[in-house]
Amino acid sequence: MSQRTCLSVILAAGEGTRMKSALPKVLHHIAGLPMVAHVVKAAEAAGASGQALVIGHGADEMRKAATKFAPKAETFVQEKRLGTAHAVLAAREAISKGYDDVLVMFGDTPLIDADALMAARFRLAEGAAVVVIGFRPPNSTGYGRLIEKGGKLTAIREEKDCSAEERKIGFCNAGMMAVAGAHALKLLDAVGNKNAKGEYYLTDIVEIARAQGLDVVATEASFESALGINNRIDLAQAEAIWQARRRHEAMLSGVTLIAPETVYFSYDTEIGADTIVEPNVWFGPGVKIAGGAKIHAFSHIEGAAIASNCDVGPFARLRPGADLRNKAKVGNFCEVKQAVIEDGAKVNHLTYIGDARVGAGANIGAGTITCNYDGYSKFFTDIGEGAFIGSNSSLVAPITIGNRGYIASGSVITESVPDDALAFGRARQKTIPGKGKELRERLASAAAAKKKAGGADH
Ligand code: UD1
Ligand code: CA
Repeated sequence: MSQRTCLSVILAAGEGTRMKSALPKVLHHIAGLPMVAHVVKAAEAAGASGQALVIGHGADEMRKAATKFAPKAETFVQEKRLGTAHAVLAAREAISKGYDDVLVMFGDTPLIDADALMAARFRLAEGAAVVVIGFRPPNSTGYGRLIEKGGKLTAIREEKDCSAEERKIGFCNAGMMAVAGAHALKLLDAVGNKNAKGEYYLTDIVEIARAQGLDVVATEASFESALGINNRIDLAQAEAIWQARRRHEAMLSGVTLIAPETVYFSYDTEIGADTIVEPNVWFGPGVKIAGGAKIHAFSHIEGAAIASNCDVGPFARLRPGADLRNKAKVGNFCEVKQAVIEDGAKVNHLTYIGDARVGAGANIGAGTITCNYDGYSKFFTDIGEGAFIGSNSSLVAPITIGNRGYIASGSVITESVPDDALAFGRARQKTIPGKGKELRERLASAAAAKKKAGGADH
């Protein structure tokens, strides 16, 4: 089958009114990626080298988004939405290039997996002209019913066109199909619009193919993988299913999730074996964790690279460009952005490190802030290896702290510090013996006098 060429035609022209959104429905995210992009990925994984995206509503926005998630896809605009068969024909030009297999998919069915598509393609390779992907939803209302006879599919009947008897059938059309490229255009062109909705139904190609003596069969996908998204409740359900699948994968690949249902992954999270993830951790897009890391509770991590055996959180925020090298530590209430934390360096408490390098083995004290922004531009802070930054210091960038530089706590550092130097950047302390006692006595008698005079104490 690997020699068979395949085109995916992904229908995404619908408005998605029930999402109540300014954003086209299929651009809503699941695991940080537009749902239609999940469909594209599944098609690619099932061997579709050609990609046609049929758009309509929000075409400009869709085209723009597609350059990111499906740069190879050709887009076709379906001007009027006259039905699913009409939508597929918008991609006539792509279909007529002569692929062996044409996979028709819906942009709003994001959980479809490559296996279900491969199974359908396999039936084409065996000689079927049309393979319909069916499923058994807990409630069939609204779905087209698959009508079978002797292991062959004879028709798909839209609910509105079903007899009472047909309506009882639990095996439903998931919407997706694999069609032999050699027959695709001929079958689609034969579809008419004489039905309850007056639309050109893709599903009619089943009966048309049968009438031509072609082989038509159905395969079965899981309910979950065929879930279609119509509103934000469906969207949340799809997200939950996606997350559950990903958590299982992570655990089976050697990651400990103490409370899996509280950990959220993105579509591209990479997480190596022997990482332990505590409860309530969120991974945004672009996270790579080599392995052996401890990610403590309530950490929020996005666009970050975490090398071997790092320790992160609890309550850490790693933003894009955070790059933790081996055994680095970023502790509670620390934020790291666009900064390398080199091997074994520690940023343990209440700190902001942005646009910076923290050299190997350096220790950043509690409350340290890299002052990287003057309201207009960002500046770099370079902290050498083995440096010690005393607590509550502000490092005003651009600035360099040399290797093993030592910064006294409470400093505001505005000039670079050479290797092995000690720098103070704060007012010198003055201590006056007995003056504390004198001050208390003065304040106490003033308060007593005020009370006696009947003045309110607040
Ligand atoms: C379709 C199937 C139905 C199946 C159900 C599964 C048909 C005729 N019916 O019904 O058997 O059970 O999916 O969810 O295929 N679209 C366009 N242009 C159009 C019409 C639709 O791009 O002119 C797109 C929509 O954006 C959507 C998809 O095609 O992504 C399906 O269309 P929709 O109208 O939702 O079909 P259903 O009525 O759900
Ligand atoms: Ca639908």
